[in-house]
Amino acid sequence: PYVVTDNCIRCKYTDCVEVCPVDCFYEGDNMLVIHPDECIDCGVCEPECPAEAIKPDTEPGLDKWLKINAEYADKWPNITLRKEPPADAASFDGVAGKFEAHFS
Ligand code: SF4
Ligand code: F3S
Repeated sequence: PYVVTDNCIRCKYTDCVEVCPVDCFYEGDNMLVIHPDECIDCGVCEPECPAEAIKPDTEPGLDKWLKINAEYADKWPNITLRKEPPADAASFDGVAGKFEAHFS
């Protein structure tokens, strides 16, 4: 599957949800995740993310994020419609340590 990774946190642009053919994005307060059992690996969401936060889990080093996507997709509500990103989204693009400081 594809996974949402660190740079979504507090950017949360939500462009990704509009293109997913199986509606498998789930919403936390500060980021989204993809349900790994529902994602059909089509890849159309990856280029839609302005923060480049979506990656295929075949990339090295994403085990942590695959686990986080799986765990929270079962806990958070489904999201299928784009919403306005946080007003300060751009100021968090590329910031390090967002998981430790702001994951929710
Ligand atoms: Fe949805 Fe396709 Fe992205 Fe998977 S790869 S989350 S199915 S748009
Ligand atoms: Fe996050 Fe990118 Fe979607 S910032 S909400 S993965 S468009």
